[in-house]
Amino acid sequence: MTPELHNLAQHVLHGLSAPQKALSSAWFYDDEGSRLFQRIMTLPEYYLTRAEHALLRERVDELLRWIDPDHRPLDLIELGSGDGEKAVTLCRALHARHVDSTFRPIDVSAHALAELSRRFDEHLPRMALKPVLGDYLARWPERSPERHQVVMLLGSNLGNFDQVGACALLRRIRTQLRSGDVLLLGLDLVKDPRVIHAAYDDSRGVTAEFNLNLLRRLNRELGMNFDTGRFSHFASYCPLQAVMRSFLISHVTQVVHSTVLDREFTFAPGETLHTEQSQKYSPESIAELAELSGFAHTHLITGSEPRYALAIWHRPQDAS
Ligand SMILES: C[S@@+](CC[C@H](N)C(=O)[O-])C[C@H]1O[C@@H](n2cnc3c(N)ncnc32)[C@H](O)[C@@H]1O
Repeated sequence: MTPELHNLAQHVLHGLSAPQKALSSAWFYDDEGSRLFQRIMTLPEYYLTRAEHALLRERVDELLRWIDPDHRPLDLIELGSGDGEKAVTLCRALHARHVDSTFRPIDVSAHALAELSRRFDEHLPRMALKPVLGDYLARWPERSPERHQVVMLLGSNLGNFDQVGACALLRRIRTQLRSGDVLLLGLDLVKDPRVIHAAYDDSRGVTAEFNLNLLRRLNRELGMNFDTGRFSHFASYCPLQAVMRSFLISHVTQVVHSTVLDREFTFAPGETLHTEQSQKYSPESIAELAELSGFAHTHLITGSEPRYALAIWHRPQDAS
Protein backbone atom coordinates (compact mmCIF):
# COMPACT_ATOMS: atom_id res chain seq x y z
CA MET A 1 0.00 0.00 0.00
CA THR A 2 1.40 3.44 -0.94
CA PRO A 3 1.71 6.06 1.84
CA GLU A 4 -1.04 8.11 0.12
CA LEU A 5 -3.43 5.13 0.06
CA HIS A 6 -2.59 4.39 3.69
CA ASN A 7 -3.43 8.03 4.60
CA LEU A 8 -6.70 7.85 2.69
CA ALA A 9 -7.62 4.52 4.36
CA GLN A 10 -6.90 5.91 7.85
CA HIS A 11 -8.79 9.10 7.08
CA VAL A 12 -11.85 7.17 5.86
CA LEU A 13 -11.77 4.76 8.80
CA HIS A 14 -11.72 7.69 11.23
CA GLY A 15 -14.15 9.89 9.26
CA LEU A 16 -16.84 7.26 8.66
CA SER A 17 -16.65 5.93 12.24
CA ALA A 18 -17.33 9.33 13.84
CA PRO A 19 -20.84 10.21 15.12
CA GLN A 20 -20.96 12.99 12.46
CA LYS A 21 -19.46 11.30 9.42
CA ALA A 22 -16.96 13.60 7.71
CA LEU A 23 -14.23 13.44 5.04
CA SER A 24 -11.76 16.13 4.05
CA SER A 25 -12.29 18.01 0.78
CA ALA A 26 -8.57 17.52 0.08
CA TRP A 27 -9.56 14.03 -1.24
CA PHE A 28 -11.86 15.45 -3.94
CA TYR A 29 -8.99 15.82 -6.41
CA ASP A 30 -8.38 12.53 -8.17
CA ASP A 31 -8.07 12.97 -11.96
CA GLU A 32 -11.84 13.06 -12.46
CA GLY A 33 -12.25 15.41 -9.45
CA SER A 34 -9.68 17.81 -10.96
CA ARG A 35 -11.51 17.69 -14.31
CA LEU A 36 -14.84 18.42 -12.59
CA PHE A 37 -13.29 21.30 -10.63
CA GLN A 38 -12.02 22.80 -13.90
CA ARG A 39 -15.66 22.74 -15.11
CA ILE A 40 -16.88 24.27 -11.84
CA MET A 41 -14.51 27.20 -12.33
CA THR A 42 -16.28 28.05 -15.61
CA LEU A 43 -19.85 27.87 -14.22
CA PRO A 44 -21.85 31.13 -14.17
CA GLU A 45 -22.61 30.68 -10.44
CA TYR A 46 -18.99 29.99 -9.39
CA TYR A 47 -17.84 33.60 -9.09
CA LEU A 48 -14.73 32.86 -6.99
CA THR A 49 -12.28 32.05 -9.80
CA ARG A 50 -13.37 34.97 -11.99
CA ALA A 51 -13.32 37.45 -9.07
CA GLU A 52 -9.84 36.36 -7.99
CA HIS A 53 -8.50 36.30 -11.52
CA ALA A 54 -9.88 39.79 -12.18
CA LEU A 55 -8.04 41.12 -9.10
CA LEU A 56 -4.80 39.43 -10.20
CA ARG A 57 -5.13 40.94 -13.68
CA GLU A 58 -6.46 44.40 -12.89
CA ARG A 59 -4.50 45.13 -9.71
CA VAL A 60 -1.27 43.40 -10.68
CA ASP A 61 0.89 46.56 -10.44
CA GLU A 62 -0.37 47.29 -6.93
CA LEU A 63 0.13 43.64 -6.00
CA LEU A 64 3.71 43.52 -7.29
CA ARG A 65 4.56 46.75 -5.47
CA TRP A 66 3.69 44.97 -2.21
CA ILE A 67 5.12 41.53 -2.88
CA ASP A 68 8.29 42.47 -4.75
CA PRO A 69 8.99 46.20 -4.37
CA ASP A 70 12.69 46.01 -5.29
CA HIS A 71 12.57 43.33 -8.05
CA ARG A 72 14.60 40.80 -6.05
CA PRO A 73 15.06 37.26 -7.45
CA LEU A 74 12.21 35.18 -6.09
CA ASP A 75 10.67 31.75 -5.83
CA LEU A 76 6.92 31.92 -6.38
CA ILE A 77 5.43 28.92 -4.56
CA GLU A 78 1.78 28.03 -5.03
CA LEU A 79 0.25 25.60 -2.55
CA GLY A 80 -2.54 23.57 -4.21
CA SER A 81 -1.90 25.22 -7.58
CA GLY A 82 -4.51 23.33 -9.60
CA ASP A 83 -4.12 23.97 -13.33
CA GLY A 84 -2.28 27.29 -12.82
CA GLU A 85 -4.75 29.40 -14.77
CA LYS A 86 -4.38 32.37 -12.42
CA ALA A 87 -0.70 31.87 -11.66
CA VAL A 88 0.14 32.31 -15.33
CA THR A 89 -1.22 35.88 -15.14
CA LEU A 90 1.04 36.78 -12.23
CA CYS A 91 4.03 34.98 -13.74
CA ARG A 92 3.55 36.86 -17.00
CA ALA A 93 3.66 40.18 -15.10
CA LEU A 94 6.85 39.12 -13.27
CA HIS A 95 8.39 38.12 -16.57
CA ALA A 96 7.45 41.45 -18.16
CA ARG A 97 9.27 43.22 -15.30
CA HIS A 98 12.35 41.02 -15.90
CA VAL A 99 12.16 39.71 -12.35
CA ASP A 100 14.36 36.61 -11.96
CA SER A 101 11.59 34.27 -10.82
CA THR A 102 10.99 30.51 -10.58
CA PHE A 103 7.45 29.18 -10.28
CA ARG A 104 7.21 26.22 -7.86
CA PRO A 105 3.63 24.88 -7.80
CA ILE A 106 2.78 21.97 -5.47
CA ASP A 107 -0.36 19.89 -5.87
CA VAL A 108 -1.55 16.37 -5.01
CA SER A 109 -3.18 16.03 -8.42
CA ALA A 110 -0.97 14.75 -11.27
CA HIS A 111 -3.75 15.70 -13.70
CA ALA A 112 -3.77 19.32 -12.44
CA LEU A 113 0.04 19.59 -12.68
CA ALA A 114 0.01 18.15 -16.22
CA GLU A 115 -2.55 20.81 -17.24
CA LEU A 116 -0.44 23.48 -15.53
CA SER A 117 2.73 22.40 -17.39
CA ARG A 118 0.84 22.38 -20.70
CA ARG A 119 -0.48 25.90 -19.97
CA PHE A 120 3.00 27.24 -19.12
CA ASP A 121 4.55 25.57 -22.19
CA GLU A 122 1.95 27.32 -24.33
CA HIS A 123 1.87 30.76 -22.68
CA LEU A 124 5.18 31.23 -20.86
CA PRO A 125 7.71 28.75 -22.24
CA ARG A 126 10.66 30.74 -20.89
CA MET A 127 9.44 30.83 -17.28
CA ALA A 128 11.49 28.59 -14.95
CA LEU A 129 8.93 26.01 -13.79
CA LYS A 130 9.59 23.41 -11.04
CA PRO A 131 6.33 21.55 -10.24
CA VAL A 132 6.14 19.28 -7.18
CA LEU A 133 3.63 16.43 -6.95
CA GLY A 134 2.75 16.07 -3.30
CA ASP A 135 0.84 17.15 -0.21
CA TYR A 136 1.71 20.66 0.91
CA LEU A 137 0.84 19.65 4.47
CA ALA A 138 3.72 17.15 4.38
CA ARG A 139 6.40 18.64 2.12
CA TRP A 140 7.74 21.94 0.85
CA PRO A 141 9.27 22.77 -2.53
CA GLU A 142 13.04 22.98 -2.51
CA ARG A 143 14.27 26.44 -1.47
CA SER A 144 17.28 28.43 -2.52
CA PRO A 145 18.84 30.47 0.30
CA GLU A 146 19.62 33.51 -1.83
CA ARG A 147 16.09 33.95 -3.23
CA HIS A 148 13.14 35.47 -1.48
CA GLN A 149 9.93 33.43 -1.28
CA VAL A 150 6.44 34.51 -2.24
CA VAL A 151 3.96 31.82 -1.22
CA MET A 152 0.46 31.79 -2.69
CA LEU A 153 -2.63 30.06 -1.34
CA LEU A 154 -5.32 31.02 -3.82
CA GLY A 155 -8.87 29.94 -4.61
CA SER A 156 -9.93 30.57 -0.98
CA ASN A 157 -8.25 27.23 -0.17
CA LEU A 158 -7.60 28.45 3.36
CA GLY A 159 -11.38 28.53 3.86
CA ASN A 160 -11.45 24.73 3.59
CA PHE A 161 -9.88 24.59 7.05
CA ASP A 162 -11.63 25.43 10.31
CA GLN A 163 -10.06 28.13 12.48
CA VAL A 164 -7.75 25.69 14.31
CA GLY A 165 -6.67 23.96 11.07
CA ALA A 166 -6.19 27.30 9.29
CA CYS A 167 -3.96 28.62 12.09
CA ALA A 168 -1.95 25.37 12.12
CA LEU A 169 -1.42 25.58 8.34
CA LEU A 170 -0.49 29.27 8.50
CA ARG A 171 2.02 28.65 11.30
CA ARG A 172 3.52 25.82 9.29
CA ILE A 173 3.87 28.12 6.28
CA ARG A 174 5.42 30.77 8.52
CA THR A 175 8.13 28.37 9.69
CA GLN A 176 9.17 27.90 6.04
CA LEU A 177 9.55 31.64 5.48
CA ARG A 178 12.41 33.98 6.28
CA SER A 179 11.92 37.48 7.55
CA GLY A 180 10.50 39.66 4.76
CA ASP A 181 9.11 36.71 2.74
CA VAL A 182 5.51 37.11 1.61
CA LEU A 183 2.30 35.10 1.85
CA LEU A 184 -0.41 35.96 -0.69
CA LEU A 185 -3.87 34.65 0.21
CA GLY A 186 -6.93 34.67 -2.06
CA LEU A 187 -9.94 34.83 0.26
CA ASP A 188 -13.66 34.89 -0.43
CA LEU A 189 -15.50 37.64 1.43
CA VAL A 190 -18.93 37.53 3.10
CA LYS A 191 -21.70 38.62 0.76
CA ASP A 192 -25.35 37.90 -0.07
CA PRO A 193 -25.88 34.34 1.23
CA ARG A 194 -27.86 33.45 -1.90
CA VAL A 195 -24.88 34.28 -4.12
CA ILE A 196 -22.58 32.13 -1.98
CA HIS A 197 -25.06 29.25 -1.84
CA ALA A 198 -25.54 29.17 -5.63
CA ALA A 199 -21.77 28.89 -6.14
CA TYR A 200 -21.79 25.54 -4.29
CA ASP A 201 -25.09 24.23 -5.67
CA ASP A 202 -25.07 25.10 -9.37
CA SER A 203 -28.11 24.54 -11.59
CA ARG A 204 -26.26 22.12 -13.91
CA GLY A 205 -25.37 19.78 -11.06
CA VAL A 206 -21.60 19.85 -11.69
CA THR A 207 -20.87 20.56 -8.00
CA ALA A 208 -23.13 17.66 -7.05
CA GLU A 209 -21.13 15.38 -9.39
CA PHE A 210 -17.88 16.71 -7.89
CA ASN A 211 -19.12 15.83 -4.40
CA LEU A 212 -20.39 12.37 -5.43
CA ASN A 213 -17.11 11.67 -7.24
CA LEU A 214 -15.50 11.35 -3.80
CA LEU A 215 -17.56 8.17 -3.28
CA ARG A 216 -16.46 6.84 -6.69
CA ARG A 217 -12.85 7.46 -5.68
CA LEU A 218 -13.37 5.48 -2.46
CA ASN A 219 -14.99 2.64 -4.43
CA ARG A 220 -11.97 2.46 -6.73
CA GLU A 221 -9.15 3.01 -4.24
CA LEU A 222 -10.51 1.39 -1.08
CA GLY A 223 -12.62 -1.36 -2.67
CA MET A 224 -15.84 0.21 -1.39
CA ASN A 225 -19.32 -0.33 -2.79
CA PHE A 226 -21.04 3.06 -2.47
CA ASP A 227 -24.13 3.30 -4.71
CA THR A 228 -23.94 6.99 -5.70
CA GLY A 229 -27.63 6.87 -6.75
CA ARG A 230 -28.46 6.49 -3.06
CA PHE A 231 -26.80 9.75 -2.01
CA SER A 232 -27.58 13.40 -2.82
CA HIS A 233 -25.50 16.56 -2.70
CA PHE A 234 -26.66 19.09 -0.09
CA ALA A 235 -25.14 22.56 0.38
CA SER A 236 -25.93 24.94 3.20
CA TYR A 237 -24.65 28.41 4.09
CA CYS A 238 -24.72 29.71 7.67
CA PRO A 239 -24.53 33.53 7.76
CA LEU A 240 -23.94 33.47 11.54
CA GLN A 241 -20.65 31.60 11.15
CA ALA A 242 -20.02 32.80 7.59
CA VAL A 243 -19.39 29.22 6.54
CA MET A 244 -20.58 27.23 3.55
CA ARG A 245 -20.82 23.49 4.10
CA SER A 246 -21.39 20.62 1.67
CA PHE A 247 -22.72 17.19 2.56
CA LEU A 248 -23.82 13.93 0.97
CA ILE A 249 -27.19 12.75 2.29
CA SER A 250 -27.97 9.04 2.44
CA HIS A 251 -31.45 8.32 1.00
CA VAL A 252 -31.99 4.99 2.78
CA THR A 253 -30.54 2.66 5.40
CA GLN A 254 -27.46 1.22 3.75
CA VAL A 255 -24.30 -0.63 4.68
CA VAL A 256 -21.12 0.15 2.75
CA HIS A 257 -18.13 -2.19 2.84
CA SER A 258 -14.43 -1.59 2.17
CA THR A 259 -12.30 -4.57 1.13
CA VAL A 260 -9.10 -2.61 1.86
CA LEU A 261 -10.20 -1.69 5.40
CA ASP A 262 -12.19 -4.91 5.92
CA ARG A 263 -14.86 -2.77 7.58
CA GLU A 264 -18.54 -1.94 7.15
CA PHE A 265 -20.11 1.47 7.68
CA THR A 266 -23.84 1.92 8.20
CA PHE A 267 -25.76 4.97 6.99
CA ALA A 268 -29.25 5.81 8.27
CA PRO A 269 -31.89 7.42 6.03
CA GLY A 270 -31.24 11.18 5.99
CA GLU A 271 -27.81 10.79 7.60
CA THR A 272 -25.25 13.32 6.38
CA LEU A 273 -21.63 12.88 5.42
CA HIS A 274 -19.84 16.25 5.72
CA THR A 275 -17.45 16.68 2.79
CA GLU A 276 -16.45 20.34 2.52
CA GLN A 277 -16.42 23.60 4.36
CA SER A 278 -15.64 27.02 2.90
CA GLN A 279 -15.13 29.82 5.37
CA LYS A 280 -16.00 33.35 4.19
CA TYR A 281 -14.08 36.31 5.60
CA SER A 282 -14.42 39.98 6.48
CA PRO A 283 -11.47 42.42 6.41
CA GLU A 284 -11.55 42.28 10.23
CA SER A 285 -11.46 38.46 10.43
CA ILE A 286 -8.56 38.41 7.95
CA ALA A 287 -6.52 40.81 10.10
CA GLU A 288 -7.36 38.76 13.21
CA LEU A 289 -6.22 35.53 11.52
CA ALA A 290 -2.89 37.15 10.56
CA GLU A 291 -2.32 38.14 14.17
CA LEU A 292 -3.31 34.70 15.52
CA SER A 293 -0.87 32.98 13.18
CA GLY A 294 2.08 35.34 13.68
CA PHE A 295 2.02 37.22 10.38
CA ALA A 296 2.12 40.95 9.72
CA HIS A 297 -1.02 41.87 7.77
CA THR A 298 0.48 44.27 5.25
CA HIS A 299 -2.14 45.06 2.62
CA LEU A 300 -5.60 44.00 1.45
CA ILE A 301 -6.74 44.32 -2.14
CA THR A 302 -10.51 43.99 -2.41
CA GLY A 303 -12.83 43.83 -5.39
CA SER A 304 -16.37 45.15 -5.24
CA GLU A 305 -18.94 42.77 -6.76
CA PRO A 306 -18.72 39.88 -6.06
CA ARG A 307 -16.61 40.72 -3.02
CA TYR A 308 -13.26 38.94 -2.95
CA ALA A 309 -9.87 39.78 -1.44
CA LEU A 310 -6.15 39.29 -1.94
CA ALA A 311 -4.39 39.53 1.41
CA ILE A 312 -0.65 40.26 1.50
CA TRP A 313 1.08 39.16 4.69
CA HIS A 314 4.75 39.22 5.63
CA ARG A 315 6.73 37.12 8.03
CA PRO A 316 7.77 39.74 10.56
CA GLN A 317 11.40 40.19 11.65
CA ASP A 318 10.88 38.94 15.18
CA ALA A 319 8.57 35.93 14.50
CA SER A 320 9.86 32.64 15.85
C1 LIG B 1 -9.92 24.56 -5.03
S1 LIG B 1 -8.56 23.99 -6.04
C2 LIG B 1 -7.73 25.54 -6.25
C3 LIG B 1 -6.73 25.53 -7.36
C4 LIG B 1 -6.02 26.85 -7.60
N1 LIG B 1 -5.20 27.23 -6.45
C5 LIG B 1 -6.99 27.95 -7.89
O1 LIG B 1 -7.08 28.88 -7.10
O2 LIG B 1 -7.71 27.87 -8.90
C6 LIG B 1 -7.60 23.17 -4.84
C7 LIG B 1 -6.33 22.51 -5.37
O3 LIG B 1 -5.53 22.21 -4.25
C8 LIG B 1 -5.05 20.88 -4.35
N2 LIG B 1 -4.88 20.42 -2.96
C9 LIG B 1 -5.82 20.30 -2.00
N3 LIG B 1 -5.25 19.91 -0.85
C10 LIG B 1 -3.92 19.75 -1.10
C11 LIG B 1 -2.79 19.38 -0.32
N4 LIG B 1 -2.93 19.07 0.98
N5 LIG B 1 -1.57 19.35 -0.89
C12 LIG B 1 -1.41 19.66 -2.20
N6 LIG B 1 -2.45 20.02 -3.00
C13 LIG B 1 -3.68 20.08 -2.46
C14 LIG B 1 -6.09 20.14 -5.15
O4 LIG B 1 -5.56 19.00 -5.83
C15 LIG B 1 -6.59 21.22 -6.12
O5 LIG B 1 -5.85 21.21 -7.33
